[in-house]
Amino acid sequence: MVKQMPPYTYIENLPSQVGQEVTLRGWLYNKRSSGKVRFLILRDGTGLVQGVMVKNKIPEEDFAAFDRLTQESSLSVSGVVRAEPRAPGGYELDLTAVQPLHLAQEYPIAPKEHGIDFLLNHRHLWLRSPRQQAILRVRDAISRACREFFSGRRFILVDTPIFTPTVCEGTTTLFATDYFGERQAYLTQSGQLYLEAAAMALGKVYCFGPTFRAEKSKTRRHLTEFWMLETEIAFAELPDILELAEALICHLVGQVLAHRRTELTLLERPLAPLEAIQPPFPRLTYSEALERLAAGGHELAWGDDLGAPEETFLSQAFDRPVMITHYPKECKAFYMKPDPADPRTVLCVDVLAPEGVGEIIGGSQREDNLSALQDRLREHNLPPEPLEWYLDLRRYGSVPHSGFGLGLERLVAWICGLHHVREAIPFPRLMDRLTP
Ligand code: 4AD
Ligand code: MG
Repeated sequence: MVKQMPPYTYIENLPSQVGQEVTLRGWLYNKRSSGKVRFLILRDGTGLVQGVMVKNKIPEEDFAAFDRLTQESSLSVSGVVRAEPRAPGGYELDLTAVQPLHLAQEYPIAPKEHGIDFLLNHRHLWLRSPRQQAILRVRDAISRACREFFSGRRFILVDTPIFTPTVCEGTTTLFATDYFGERQAYLTQSGQLYLEAAAMALGKVYCFGPTFRAEKSKTRRHLTEFWMLETEIAFAELPDILELAEALICHLVGQVLAHRRTELTLLERPLAPLEAIQPPFPRLTYSEALERLAAGGHELAWGDDLGAPEETFLSQAFDRPVMITHYPKECKAFYMKPDPADPRTVLCVDVLAPEGVGEIIGGSQREDNLSALQDRLREHNLPPEPLEWYLDLRRYGSVPHSGFGLGLERLVAWICGLHHVREAIPFPRLMDRLTP
């Protein structure tokens, strides 16, 4: 008689199935044997569990299958769930059946140290490692928390285009692509300009999607394709978005601490610095930042942009993110509104994460006056024609408005304690990497 298959489950459900016979499907993470007992560790994407095989308590054929199972072979196993505090995950299976599904060829990623290039070349397989899985789970939790934060505050999600006719953040990092042999299209650097139009329709909006920058720099903070969470709010001024950015970061860190502690622990990420992330965040103007930098031996002339060493210095001076406002307008994009109190500066903010990660948020109040914006375009040598539609927003019921963008990978890198953003995205795109 054919034995009926016990119900399929996932490793994450085992705590509620103690004493029951269940079936799991997954991949062989590891195995070992000692005398008449064989141990295999299975992973199924939701966790790891050890299965124990004892000769004569499992069909002969299933027992023999153990020897053929190679690392990362796929298999289905049945067994009775038992609480076992010493086992990884806290549960074990007394196996009643083991069925190989596909025997893996010799797996290229052995449990030894590999170089970063090798691992990146095998990114499609590297994702299976516990560390990379943990990072992806944290990223998932952050993405979900981003949407919850904004929809909970009744912001409307507006999807902005990827193909765009023109620049948003500076001509030097545009990716151009041929558009039917008739014209050039550019991959979007930011959804902001479209989000501004949407804010004039819906009031409070956000977008969350991939953005592209032809960054010719190989740093630990730059990707050529990265995800940005952006928001835009009609009638908001600079102080309003400082408060919103602070609340957003606290919410995201809080959600990861609440739901992804196991992953942070696996990543050996110290939790205390994350637990310190509470409002209020320190706020400094650019000029105040220059004074602090000079006192710390980093002399900059007024007007110079902050580079990575300066950002690192400033971010290490505080135990929570620091908000730097009022940069010289030469350092910033054309759409930022000059400060009426000091028109050499703009009403902008950069939020620097602590622990040396650097800028995670950039935002500003937008220039809402038509002729002032036209002047800014001229100063930046940007032709107005492709941006006429954007200028229309200043022709038909212009209002003060502000917004910001948060770089997802930099946030993930900070929260996970990663040195480089390339591990914070499933398939990183870098100046010298387009595969896999
Ligand atoms: O400061 P940025 O350039 O601001 C904007 O794009 C605005 N239009 C956003 C807005 O106001 N709606 O970029 C915002 C954030 C940065 O703070 C950083 O976290 C991230 O995007 N970022 C990058 N992340 C990874 N790789 C890159 N090459 C990045 N460039 C920017
Ligand atoms: Mg910026």
